[in-house]
Amino acid sequence: MGVPLLVRLQSYLGPLLLLSISIIYLPITLLFHPFLFLFSPSSFRSKWFENFWRIVGPQMAASELQAEHIEELLSRAHGQVLELGPGGGDQIYHYKAGQVETLYGAEPNAFLHSRLAEMAAKHGLGDKFVAIDAAAQPGSLLPALKEARLVSSKTASLPEEGVFDSVVAIKSLCSAPQGQLASTVAVVQALLKPGGEFLFFEHVENSTDAVTMYYAWLLDWIWPLFMGGCRLNGKIDRVVLGMGGWDERRVTTVGDFQGHEVFRYVKGICRKA
Ligand SMILES: C[S@@+](CC[C@H](N)C(=O)[O-])C[C@H]1O[C@@H](n2cnc3c(N)ncnc32)[C@H](O)[C@@H]1O
Repeated sequence: MGVPLLVRLQSYLGPLLLLSISIIYLPITLLFHPFLFLFSPSSFRSKWFENFWRIVGPQMAASELQAEHIEELLSRAHGQVLELGPGGGDQIYHYKAGQVETLYGAEPNAFLHSRLAEMAAKHGLGDKFVAIDAAAQPGSLLPALKEARLVSSKTASLPEEGVFDSVVAIKSLCSAPQGQLASTVAVVQALLKPGGEFLFFEHVENSTDAVTMYYAWLLDWIWPLFMGGCRLNGKIDRVVLGMGGWDERRVTTVGDFQGHEVFRYVKGICRKA
């Protein structure tokens, strides 16, 4: 049976609401940071996203539907942990501080670093937290890890024994360049110690409902501009499932996903061989 039109429209309103909130923050950011807009458009975009995310991030992190799954993932993180795109640290409360030795947060939006550090301190990770100014893709992450001396700058190859016990990504790889997702995940795998885990919770492309796919495709023309580079056609599930080197990988669709919803969330637990 087809989806009632009203139900479909209601579900399509969700992304439009997020877009509207982001649009409201555009003139506000412009008013307070006109020089950034004029002299550093990319910093202006980061500031705009920070203003938006400081309001929206905590609301999203409080979603009961998602919190249980994110808790399941982050409570597995232990030892040396790398989180890709931790934002303002709204998910940090899920970590079990006692089992984390160091938490490296690779967050490319430097405007979010102060709140990230505050949230780490609030949740018992203050002296274990290190912010890294980098995105997830290898061209940004690897030089930053070298600068932080986590990876040797003298050799071209990554250490065979790995660096991290856990690598985490929560709703951040949708903003990483999708064309580089395979190399990004290959580097994540290489950075994991044998037996280490890649833990992710991400939204991926809806590939089940033609109308929704078309709606998402249309929306995706403007979505990244207003959402800090986020794309609606994420493919992390396919990338992870299509590569070898995992001892075990569980990638599952979260909750009761309906084909007419734009966001299909997936949760992944992948253990390196
Ligand atoms: C939707 S927010 C999620 C933040 C946080 N993980 C959470 O769940 O509250 C997306 C985050 O990914 C970051 N990001 C953007 N581009 C990225 C990239 N190429 N690699 C890693 N993170 C990125 C953004 O700066 C932002 O902090």
